[in-house]
Amino acid sequence: MSTKQTVTAIQASKVRHGSKPLAMVTAYDAPTARIVDAAGVDMVLVGDTLAMVVLGYEDTRTVTVEQMAHHIGAVARTKPNALIIGDMPWMSYHLSALEAVDNAATLVRAGAEVVKLEGGRNRIPVIQAILDAEIPVMGHLGLTPQSSLKMGGFRVQAKTAELARDLIQQAKELEAVGCCSIVLEGIPSIVGRQITEAISIPTIGIGAGADTDGQVLVFHDLVGLETERLPKFVRRYGNSFDSQVEAVQGFVQDVRSADYPTDDESYSGPKGLTEQLDQP
Ligand code: KIV
Repeated sequence: MSTKQTVTAIQASKVRHGSKPLAMVTAYDAPTARIVDAAGVDMVLVGDTLAMVVLGYEDTRTVTVEQMAHHIGAVARTKPNALIIGDMPWMSYHLSALEAVDNAATLVRAGAEVVKLEGGRNRIPVIQAILDAEIPVMGHLGLTPQSSLKMGGFRVQAKTAELARDLIQQAKELEAVGCCSIVLEGIPSIVGRQITEAISIPTIGIGAGADTDGQVLVFHDLVGLETERLPKFVRRYGNSFDSQVEAVQGFVQDVRSADYPTDDESYSGPKGLTEQLDQP
C-alpha cells in the first residue's frame, strides 16, 4: 500500500462488495510499526496486548492511558500509511462518558486515528459520546480480554444459539451507533460469518473463522517472537525469537574471541594521533 489509509476507506471495505480482506497487525513501537507498514498492512493496532506482549503483565487490565499514549506516539511518529488504531485500556471508558471522551482525546493527540474499545450494547452511550467528539470508534465483541475475570478466563464466546443471536444483535447496535468496524474475537466461525453477513461495516476477526472482512494478529505471535503457548488461531509466519537469539549469540561469541570489533569497525582518528599519544 503506497497511499495513506483512511477511516472512510476502511469503513466501506466489505468482502461481499468486492473488497479484499483487510489485514491488521499490532505494533507497539517505531521499529515494529515500520515493519508492519512496509509489509503493507491496512491497519496498525496499538493494542492493549502491549501489557502482556511487551510489558510482561499477566493480563491486559494493567496498562494505562498514559502508557497507551506513549506507545501510540512511537508508532505515529513513523508516519505509517496504515490507519493507526489505538486501544482504549480497561477503566478508561467505564466510569463516565466525559472521562471516556477525555481519554480518547489523549490517544488521538498521541497519534491514534481511530480508538478501539471492548463491549457491546453496554458501551453504546460512551461510543456515542466519543463519536460526538468527532473521534472514529472501532468496536470489539466476543472474547473481550479486558473481561476475562468475568468470563472466567480467555474463553470462546457465543457458543449457544441464544448467545450467538444476542451477539449478532449487539453487532447491529454497534453499527447503528456509528462504529467504523468491529473486531470479532474468540467466537465460533459460524457466528463470525453471520455477524459479517448481518452488518455493512467490516468485521476484523481473530479466532472468528475465515468469513470475516479481515483478520488481525498480534505481531509477536505471527513473527514467532512470543515463545509462550499460543492460541489455536495463531499462524506463525517466522521464527524471530530463534533468529534474534542467534544474532546476539554471534555478538557474544565475537566479543569473547576478540573478533569484534575489527579495524574497519573502529575509528582511526586523525593522522599522527597515534604518534602524538606515544610521546611521553
Ligand atoms: O490488544 C490487542 O492486541 C487486540 C487484538 C488482539 C485484537 O485487541
